[in-house]
Amino acid sequence: MPKHKKNEFQIFSEAFPPNKRGIREKRDISSPNHILLKNIKIIPDNIIYKPLTKKDIEETKNLHKEWFPINYSDNYFQTIFTEKSGKYFSIGAFYTIFDEETKQKKEVIIGLALCEWINGSNYFTKVFGKESALEIINNINYKEEVYSYLKCDDYHCIYIMTIGVLDEFRKMNIGSNIVQRIINIGLNDILCIGVFLDVIYFNNSAIKFYKKNLFKKVMTNRNYYNIKGNRYDAYSFLRIFTRKEKDKFRYQNSNLIKKSLDLLINPIFFIFKIIIFCLLFQCFRNKIKID
Ligand SMILES: CC(C)(COP(=O)(O)OP(=O)(O)OC[C@H]1O[C@@H](n2cnc3c(N)ncnc32)[C@H](O)[C@@H]1OP(=O)(O)O)[C@@H](O)C(=O)NCCC(=O)NCCS
Repeated sequence: MPKHKKNEFQIFSEAFPPNKRGIREKRDISSPNHILLKNIKIIPDNIIYKPLTKKDIEETKNLHKEWFPINYSDNYFQTIFTEKSGKYFSIGAFYTIFDEETKQKKEVIIGLALCEWINGSNYFTKVFGKESALEIINNINYKEEVYSYLKCDDYHCIYIMTIGVLDEFRKMNIGSNIVQRIINIGLNDILCIGVFLDVIYFNNSAIKFYKKNLFKKVMTNRNYYNIKGNRYDAYSFLRIFTRKEKDKFRYQNSNLIKKSLDLLINPIFFIFKIIIFCLLFQCFRNKIKID
């Protein structure tokens, strides 16, 4: 492994509370793969976005230690990665590097999100409570649409449990690309009405990030987070889908499928036509010979 300067393995996350002087202390790196990425220049086009699998559990745990001040239990990760009902899903941003130590290529995680489907009747009331549900509706521009959501029992929604990107690769749109993929999963599901999440009130970069990705702050959860015995408020951010947005997405996607099918079918038809032509030509020649 190449030599590194002292403090080079120090990391930073705004999800951690600032100290008494209002400064966030840097902490030690938890992920060995993160060390391999030091001094590597990422080519955004080479990032692959795909679901995480069981083999990524250890790395996901390490990265959560780097990003969040909350101690997530082993059971938390086991449940998310092994639950068969499809309640949870994840999106990872992977990058392939050459590991100088093993002299082999290695795919490492540079960002990820863990998500949960929230199902059930009366979505807003279930998730936020009755009073807050009304508060949310009053905060949203397209009220009529939301009222119709409230009336139907079958709607569901995606909750982003955690999301993070390695500090060196932040502000490169990786987080937004992950969020966009989550949004697309929601848009593709007829009964999904939106995506929501909670963020600790002092995490300004994350708040900017959600706003940039068109999430709206819908309520404040008092004392929501407990970090080392101290209580901190959280803001709930919601990205609700309008029917127009869902229809547009489905229309674009159906067009995409049609175009890809056309591309696939057209050459097949072309070859088929040539074969038919050759066969007919052969028949015609044989007929002339017999005559
Ligand atoms: C929040 C986080 C996931 C954002 O990921 P990212 O890949 O850096 O985000 P993007 O590059 O897609 O940023 C998109 C926009 O978000 C805003 N943003 C992101 N990071 C920011 C920062 N440090 N300061 C100010 N704005 C920021 C900007 O508006 C940015 O757009 P711009 O680059 O055009 O200005 C990342 O900062 C992170 O991992 N933080 C630590 C863990 C964490 O706090 N997770 C969220 C818990 S709720």
